[in-house]
Amino acid sequence: MRTQVGIIGAGPAGLLLAHLLHRRGIDSVVLESRSRAYIEGRIRAGLLEQGAVDTLREAGLADRLDREGLVHNGLDLLFDGTRHRIDLFGLTGKRVTIYGQQEAVKDMVAARIATGRPIFFEVADTAVHDITSDRPSITFTHEGTRHRIECDVIAGCDGFHGISRPAIPASAVRVYDRVYPFGWLGILSRSRPVSEELIYARHERGFALATMRSHTLARLYLQCAPDEDLSLWPDERIWEELHIRLSCGSELEEGPILQKGVTAMRSFVVEPMRHGRLFLAGDAAHIVPPTGAKGMNLAIGDVRVLDAALGAFFAKGDTSLMDRYSAICLDRIWKVQRFSWWMTQMLHVFDHADPFEHRIQLAELDYVVNSPAAATTLAENYVGLPYAV
Ligand code: APR
Ligand code: PHB
Repeated sequence: MRTQVGIIGAGPAGLLLAHLLHRRGIDSVVLESRSRAYIEGRIRAGLLEQGAVDTLREAGLADRLDREGLVHNGLDLLFDGTRHRIDLFGLTGKRVTIYGQQEAVKDMVAARIATGRPIFFEVADTAVHDITSDRPSITFTHEGTRHRIECDVIAGCDGFHGISRPAIPASAVRVYDRVYPFGWLGILSRSRPVSEELIYARHERGFALATMRSHTLARLYLQCAPDEDLSLWPDERIWEELHIRLSCGSELEEGPILQKGVTAMRSFVVEPMRHGRLFLAGDAAHIVPPTGAKGMNLAIGDVRVLDAALGAFFAKGDTSLMDRYSAICLDRIWKVQRFSWWMTQMLHVFDHADPFEHRIQLAELDYVVNSPAAATTLAENYVGLPYAV
């Protein structure tokens, strides 16, 4: 097989890249280790920055998003028993949209299949070769047969646990990593969301977040241990803890819990995001803690730059944007890392026995909700920093 761009991974990064390249007339092959049903059912964060929505709209991928996405003009911070609204739209002129990541993935898989261009699910033993030559290749097994795809460029969009990043020699990259001493226990419940907008709660017992997927599906999170044992969390205990941490006057409606899971939290960046003809995008290159829901948004930001860079390369042999790909992406990624880290450290309990931490967090939250300058800082990061490309 031969293609221009071999794309490893069919998450938001790989699927959006395939779609944008197709619109430019650039050929690609998408390889995914999981089944279609698996990637379309995988529940993740579901908040899109205004720029991410605009990107999907310009790409012709937003028909269902425009019908079903829930547009939010603000969010609430809850601390010391009081809720304070941050007027995102009033402060920035921009909004965010709640739309489950797996819904965006479904839309992009459908768009890929409609093009008739190849997407292989359930591939195994994926490996990249000759990435510093101008004829890199990918080998993989599909339905028992070994294949090789010769490419001009390989896009490593295979997430944090993929094979692309480890294919770069360790001596050629620098890794930045911070693991947090907690995780999030998340549930999806068939019940009315607590409020029209999101509530981020700082409580002495730990962080909680009330979000949603629709007017009848609530998504709720609790700070927990990074390796929390779910068997210790029967539904009654989850609701009891949510009632305590989200107590704010609005009623928390209980409902059947449809899904339960624990996510560990880390901040991670690899630099540079390119080695020869291998380009990393999305979670393959960086991870953010979910506070602020930047994971999918960062992936979309990377792909915008990679699409433009590959467009210039294939149209004119111009490598200048390809050469700046990593630097352009990292400039924005580090600012988003900073924001995700800042939201995380302001809202979570790191040390239950540290009264100083508690008072500093309350002072910071109080400052954020009372200073228009501080509120604007939160809002402009939350709705999404501008793109360079
Ligand atoms: N070969 C092929 N596919 C692979 C391989 C492999 N060796 N390893 C991993 N994959 C696939 C995974 O199964 C997954 O579907 O690559 C895909 C990577 O997708 P994501 O993990 O969704 O990453 P990305 O597209 O960068 O999107 C970032 O996803 O993790 C969330 O919160 C994160 O919202 C963010 C978004
Ligand atoms: C979600 O809806 O799943 C979500 C929203 C905002 C976050 C994290 C997760 O900060």
